[in-house]
This record gives sequence, structure tokens and C-alpha cells, in this order.
Amino acid sequence: VIFNSSNEASIIVAEEIAALIKEKEAQNQPCVLGLATGSSPIKVYEELVRMHNEEGLSFSNVVTFNLDEYYPMGKDNIQSYFHFMHEHLFNHVDILPEHINIPNGMVKADDLYQYCIDYELKIKSYGGLDFQLLGIGRTGHIGFNEPGSHLNSGTRSITLDHVTRADAAPAFLGIDNVPRKAITMGIGTVKSAKRIVLLGWGLNKAKILKKTIEGEETSSVPATYLQDHDNTTFVIDSEASSEL
Ligand code: GLP
Repeated sequence: VIFNSSNEASIIVAEEIAALIKEKEAQNQPCVLGLATGSSPIKVYEELVRMHNEEGLSFSNVVTFNLDEYYPMGKDNIQSYFHFMHEHLFNHVDILPEHINIPNGMVKADDLYQYCIDYELKIKSYGGLDFQLLGIGRTGHIGFNEPGSHLNSGTRSITLDHVTRADAAPAFLGIDNVPRKAITMGIGTVKSAKRIVLLGWGLNKAKILKKTIEGEETSSVPATYLQDHDNTTFVIDSEASSEL
């Protein structure tokens, strides 16, 4: 779906998430959201916060699982996704702290393998993800599933692509400070969500969105794996659609 502006599109996506939260609340069920970081979802979170403040949207039945975190990365570090999510969403709504799940960037290397298995199991224990919000990296990554990621991959540690580290360099004041690794949900984890919305804004996403939407399904552009998910929408603005 192509919108004139990312603001307009973000409001529609936030409305869909809010409707799902209310539907699940009416059924007395948790609403399990898979959440993304990066600049793309910021306006969606801003709109959800506005709905919480002005319309009484409650997050008390919301359980969240974030896609990824740099590794190693402390929670207090301002570049952490933990910090990002609290700054843009969690600090401003009534979500219960025990309902927030973000991969722990400080887990010991020896415990990492089991930690990732447990993250996956925790998602399943809630009956899976009801809704997964995604951005896209210029390598075609979703979460931090870089080129080469397997279709059935689960939560795991991954080595970041040079392009991804270069894109993150300004936030870290130089590429040398960008971690070389991350923990990410897998393609299989993402695709198990009942509903997926991928956001893409601006000219610098136009090329990768063309490959993602019109190219062949391939592990060298992991986002192409979304093509055969039966409830995925690519929500993009007119600039991002310019190569389609
Ligand atoms: C990071 C995140 C991704 C995100 C991507 C794009 O790599 N791990 O989940 O989609 O950045 O970020 P942006 O939305 O800022 O373009």
C-alpha cells in the first residue's frame, strides 16, 4: 500500500494496532506484539502514545517482543534498543514491565545459545505473535536477519553486515564503535506472526523495496521471504515506491 506521506501511513498502522489491542482486551486475552526499532516506526509509536494519553488506549493486556538488540550492548547505553523502546513507547504507556521482552545484549556468551532458545519458547508460550511490525535495512534485512539468513531461522546471534554497520555509524559516532554482532529473532520467528506490517519510507529504501516486493524470493534479500506470508502488507510512502 502506497501512501503520500509516512505520517499519514503511520497513523493508519497505529490505528490497526490499537484496534487489535482493544479486540484482544474485549476477549480477555493478551495482545502479543512483535516490535521494531529504527527511525521507521517512530511515528507509529508516537501515535500509540497519543491514543493512550488522549483516548485512554490501555496497554495493560499488551505483551511485547522486540526483534533484536546489538551484542554486546548494555541496557543503559543510549544506542541500545532497550533505551530506544523505553524512550519512544514504554515510558509513556501503561504496559506492565514484566510484559516487555527485548533481547538482552548483556547475556554471557556461554549462555547465549540457550537464551535465544528460551526467547523463542517464551513467544510460543503466549500463543505466538499476533502482530509483527517491521522496518527494512538496506541489505534487505528484517530484524537483523542479514543476507544468507535461513527461511526457518529462529532467534539467534548474528554477525552484522558492513552496510548495516555503516548505516548505524552516525548514531555510534563512527563505524568502529558499532557492535559487530546482534541477537535477532529469525525469519521463521517473524513469519510465524499472524499479521505482519513492514514500513518503508524515503528514497534510500526504494531500491531494496523493489527487490523485496518484485524480486525473486532469495536468502540474499531476506525480506523477500515475506512474499509468501499470507497476511503481510508492505506500507510505504511514494518516495519509497519510486522504483516499483
Ligand atoms: C536496524 C534494525 C531494523 C530496522 C533497520 C532500518 O537495522 N535492526 O529492525 O528495520 O535498522 O532502520 P530505519 O527504520 O532507521 O531505516
